Amino acid sequence: MSARTRTTGAVLAALAAAAVAVPGATPVAALAAEPRGEAATPGDSGAGDPYFPFAGNGGYDVRHYDLDLTYQPPAPEPAPLVGRLSGVATIDLTATQNLDRFNLDLRGLDVHEVEVNGRSAEEVDPPSPGEQVEGAAYWRVQNDAQRQWELTIQPRPRLTKGERARVVVTYGGDTTRPTDIEGALYGWVTTRDGAMVVNEPEGAMTWYPVSDHPTDKATYGFEITVPEGKVAVANGLPRRKPVTKDGWTTWFWKAPDQQASYLTTASVGDFTLHTSKTDRGLAVVNAVDKDLTAANAATTSASLARQADMIAFFEDTFTRYPFNSFGAIVDDDSVGYALETQTRPVYSRVASESTVAHELAHQWLGNAVSPELWRGIWLNEGWASYAEWLWAEESGGRSAQASFEEVMAIPADDPFWTVVVADPGPLGLFVAPVYDRGAATLHALRLEIGDRAFFASARRWLQRYDDSTATTEDFEAVCEKVSGESLDAFFDTWLRTPSKPPTP
Ligand code: ARG
Ligand code: ZN
Repeated sequence: MSARTRTTGAVLAALAAAAVAVPGATPVAALAAEPRGEAATPGDSGAGDPYFPFAGNGGYDVRHYDLDLTYQPPAPEPAPLVGRLSGVATIDLTATQNLDRFNLDLRGLDVHEVEVNGRSAEEVDPPSPGEQVEGAAYWRVQNDAQRQWELTIQPRPRLTKGERARVVVTYGGDTTRPTDIEGALYGWVTTRDGAMVVNEPEGAMTWYPVSDHPTDKATYGFEITVPEGKVAVANGLPRRKPVTKDGWTTWFWKAPDQQASYLTTASVGDFTLHTSKTDRGLAVVNAVDKDLTAANAATTSASLARQADMIAFFEDTFTRYPFNSFGAIVDDDSVGYALETQTRPVYSRVASESTVAHELAHQWLGNAVSPELWRGIWLNEGWASYAEWLWAEESGGRSAQASFEEVMAIPADDPFWTVVVADPGPLGLFVAPVYDRGAATLHALRLEIGDRAFFASARRWLQRYDDSTATTEDFEAVCEKVSGESLDAFFDTWLRTPSKPPTP
């Protein structure tokens, strides 16, 4: 036992006093075996986001996820549209408090085995409040009405603050087509030929145990085994060549950049992979479904051919591209939208040029710098939409000023102007004003503080909060600092007032 961990009589006495003072505190007898200052308490069941109170978890930080998945897509029609997923998730985390127990988010899917630091936990029924559970254990709470999907793990010995632990969860089950709070498809969306995997805002938990909130970014490794002939595409770059054995092919991907859980993907389909490099050496990996219509295939290949030029333009406008690679996953199925999955956006049926510009811009604005709370969604969608305007102008199309004027042509009595862009509510995350009034806000800001301060603010924002999360207030502070102007009234008018701002 080291000096640091030796418990003195005085510390024990203090712990005894604390146990008396705090109802429900862990008894001293239990602590005596694992003494470390503060009593070990349960980690929170959420990250503290009012839009999704049970998304993410407290008490630890994930450093890395290794996801070893095996997926059997549905049989041909008329078989039901149900796949079969089995997984081993190896999660390396650091306790941020003395932890009696902690949660992971996992929706549906069965858990077969849980190990912490190589010691296996026993499945038990959820204890009632105040009830103690003996020994290393885990249990599930699945409450669809509350959007509360939790796997609680009670490690023994308890984890101490700062301790690193490896959690291995073996799990699996049938996959269907989960939906988000507004009823849109998301998560592991089973398709006839595979799966389209798009998690925004908290759909990662439909396919792996996760702390499902952008404030807990981590790195990822993937090993995805699918029937021979199918292609599995995840974030980042291939770690090695696929391996085929007994009719199954394993695809290896690694994503070494910090990544929010809503941006992970492991899509499966009848894809053709195309790999290239930009002039400055950035790897581009495109996965295009073999079954796109001829018209969609033509549009898609024309758009993807512009990716290198778009990257160069946004690097000039913003900062260096933030990740190790880029590319696209273009599925012949549809979830009804595209998503900026990190390094490799997913597109439904076709990738148009403006959508590719939008999803690329998100790699900086949304992915490298992510919303700290989901109410800050306009920082993603307003910026990506504004970047679309900038790309249109750069590539000989409509000017950003003309795009701005189109938004400002919406009549003042249109309900468009009633959305509070800085806090649109969980059902308002993806409404048009978040995108278009968000973009107009940025253009109005540019008119207010001038091009120099505007683009310097964008770069400062990206440097200051790279690999992290930030709020609307943080953005305002950066703009005020860089421009030297007081912008409170400006941002209140544009982001917090449910009426049309005066046209500048
Ligand atoms: N972030 C995506 C984009 O703008 C859109 C996601 C839309 N999701 C939804 N459930 N409607 O690129
Ligand atoms: Zn977007």
